[in-house]
Amino acid sequence: MRLERLSLRDFRNFKSLELSELSHGINVFVGRNAMGKTNLIEAINYLSCGKSFRGTQDSKLIREGQPFAGIFAGYSTGSHRGKIEIGIFGEAKRSVKLNGLPIKKISELMGAMNSIVFAPEDLRIIKESPSLRRRMMDMELCKISSGYYRDVQSYVLALKSKNKLLKDMHAKDGVIEAYNVQLAQYGAGIIRRRRVFVEKLNQYGAAFYQNLQNVTESIQIRYKSSTEAEDIQTGLLEKMQINAKREREIGISLVGPHREDLEIFINGKDSKIYASQGQQRTALLAIKLAALEIAQEQTGESPILLLDDVFSELDKRRKESLMEIVSKKQVFITCTDIDGMQRFPEAAYYQVDHAKVKQVK
Ligand SMILES: Nc1ncnc2c1ncn2[C@@H]1O[C@H](COP(=O)(O)OP(=O)(O)O)[C@@H](O)[C@H]1O
Ligand SMILES: [Mg+2]
Repeated sequence: MRLERLSLRDFRNFKSLELSELSHGINVFVGRNAMGKTNLIEAINYLSCGKSFRGTQDSKLIREGQPFAGIFAGYSTGSHRGKIEIGIFGEAKRSVKLNGLPIKKISELMGAMNSIVFAPEDLRIIKESPSLRRRMMDMELCKISSGYYRDVQSYVLALKSKNKLLKDMHAKDGVIEAYNVQLAQYGAGIIRRRRVFVEKLNQYGAAFYQNLQNVTESIQIRYKSSTEAEDIQTGLLEKMQINAKREREIGISLVGPHREDLEIFINGKDSKIYASQGQQRTALLAIKLAALEIAQEQTGESPILLLDDVFSELDKRRKESLMEIVSKKQVFITCTDIDGMQRFPEAAYYQVDHAKVKQVK
């Protein structure tokens, strides 16, 4: 997967930007703080999922005082060329065209031009609440499986209805039970794909970690699932039935994919508690690279890797290992300091200054 050209109109601090000679390999964007580097990464990633990776509302992506923001891109895969045109007019008001045709659901955009971001705030995925780890799993799975996306949507909808009933004293048990049947069905679709995903994440992640960090250290990624049953749907439904009384007492749904987690261990110890900042960063990088590998395996195309402000934090050896791993992929790197970046003879370098981007040699 390659981003061939990118243009922005009134996106964040960019009034107008045209980038048309992007490298198929490494692209480095250098600039001081608050110049627009992360905004650029955000725009590229928005193209692959229709969302800001920083969790920013759409309306805030429009340049202040302007009526709309535009993100336009041309991309290529091994087999075809495509284009994406996105206009953001406000909250939940946007138009998205894929290859000139308007799309109705964002699921049609998901993964058309897939990219994976790694940014400093991603360390929260290791350190903070399970919801962030679930969000990462969901994000990566949605981009490679439209079935997963549909199951998540249906699950969330049914869960909302069930939670409303759980808070309603007059709701009948039978109606709640009917929602459990639905939740078990969609939930099974989610869990089945998460099982495969985490197994591979663990397998590839461990290899990348050893490659980046140290062969004597290992990471392990475990899926803390709501059921280990072979027949997931039945297992899930049974658990819901066991918890039915308790759920009515406290008014929330206690069982299902929305309560699951990923556990990340380094040398057998919970990385959340015991790992150093450097180990956590490397573990997360290994996980992102594993997600890249899984997407490539599933879709035949490697996603674009977006490294926002993390490259300069790595030591020389890790930088070299990373560049070797991603050598055949398109990568966007942002940093504040060009020192140590000059080592890639094939890379394209850009200076970002107050939302103006200039290629430098
Ligand atoms: N909607 C917006 N309209 C105008 N400027 C914005 C908007 N959102 C963010 N900015 C500006 O973008 C700049 C930050 O850009 P960013 O890409 O995060 O910087 P960095 O180069 O440090 O990564 C800040 O100056 C901020 O005020
Ligand atoms: Mg930044």
